Amino acid sequence: MIEIDLEQGWVRDDGDGGDGGGTRLPLGSAEGFALVSKAWLRAGWDAKYLYSFTWMGRPIIQLPEDLLRMQEVVYAVRPTLIVETGIAHGGSLVYYASLLKTMDIPGRVVGVDIEIRPGNRAALEAHELRGYITLLEGSSVAPEIAREVRALVRPEDRVMVVLDSDHSKEHMRSELEIYGPLVSRGSYIVAADGIMRSLGRAPRTRPDWAWNNPRNAAAEFLEVHPEFELAQPAPVFNEGTLGEPVTYWQGGWLCRRE
Ligand SMILES: C[S@@+](CC[C@H](N)C(=O)[O-])C[C@H]1O[C@@H](n2cnc3c(N)ncnc32)[C@H](O)[C@@H]1O
Repeated sequence: MIEIDLEQGWVRDDGDGGDGGGTRLPLGSAEGFALVSKAWLRAGWDAKYLYSFTWMGRPIIQLPEDLLRMQEVVYAVRPTLIVETGIAHGGSLVYYASLLKTMDIPGRVVGVDIEIRPGNRAALEAHELRGYITLLEGSSVAPEIAREVRALVRPEDRVMVVLDSDHSKEHMRSELEIYGPLVSRGSYIVAADGIMRSLGRAPRTRPDWAWNNPRNAAAEFLEVHPEFELAQPAPVFNEGTLGEPVTYWQGGWLCRRE
């Protein structure tokens, strides 16, 4: 149980006991803020906070904190090709395209989804950033889709990949094997939504998420791929006490070593 006292300015984790044990942590300490963030992330999951944003007109199902951090990474890495599996309404594709345009990066975005609904496709094909976006329909682990994506990579490309489709461990593990080799040195492949592992008995979860999650897939991938390392991007600017990142993509940022 997490107990928060806003009057006194502390938070503490009683564990499962709820017996008042646990150390009182100042709200503004790195540990205190991490604990409050854990509670906020869980409440946000329950309240479907993620499902309340758009980017340039398209629904985007991401934690704003992850998007801001991603923007810092794109600015630093300057990818000329961003591949995303899992498009949904296309907000994230538009987001990546808008970053490329704003940052004056001569790049493009490839999105893969097992089902691109006609309304989503029509909206993306009519969007002002459509020139940056290529849509591929099919399973991200289907050999023909993998071939199509590979064919879109130019030798000079700097490639970044975001995996946000089927978040089961097996699917994510396969995607990491398929798309990992495309990632350029110094760039990233992101296994999104590692938070699944720590949602406990929250609504819309399953008990097997404790092991069947992207975070475990990423950890397994790292064991056999020393060319990658776990590298949660550190804040570029941090005048606060932030320690733990506030993210849904826990354990999901894998950087290809230089
Ligand atoms: C969480 S949503 C993606 C959200 C989107 N990236 C965003 O930020 O708004 C997951 C998407 O993955 C797609 N999907 C599920 N299984 C897939 C598969 N095997 N291959 C490709 N896409 C898949 C679903 O159709 C769904 O649109």
